[in-house]
Amino acid sequence: MIGRLNHVAIAVADLAKASTLYRDTLGAVVSAPIGQPDHGVTVVFVTLPNTKIELLAPLGESSPIAKFLERNPDGGMHHICYEVADIRAARDRLQAQGARVLGDGEPRIGAHGKPVLFLHPKDFNGTLVEIEQV
Ligand code: CO
Repeated sequence: MIGRLNHVAIAVADLAKASTLYRDTLGAVVSAPIGQPDHGVTVVFVTLPNTKIELLAPLGESSPIAKFLERNPDGGMHHICYEVADIRAARDRLQAQGARVLGDGEPRIGAHGKPVLFLHPKDFNGTLVEIEQV
């Protein structure tokens, strides 16, 4: 059911420092920071030949990654995103298998303008999983 790895998201406290690390130390192609106030994050996209890395820093008062960074002050892997062809069909299948979908179970428009859902990390080996319809 799941398809390509769309992105791996890494939460960081200092976006400029993380951008420098990826650009200069790792030699990757790194975008300018893009504020996404609806999602409570500022994002830097790192483009790799086969996938993307998203560096996420908190934006605003109630950022969804603020607590994560409190627990992980050095930053850390926040979630992994797999592509699916039909997000509602994917959700129904996952729920039928006992996986918990976060929120009200209705897909929301994610950071790339496409419908996304998040799956409970306790059901996926301690990893927050995002599925995105492409
Ligand atoms: Co994501």
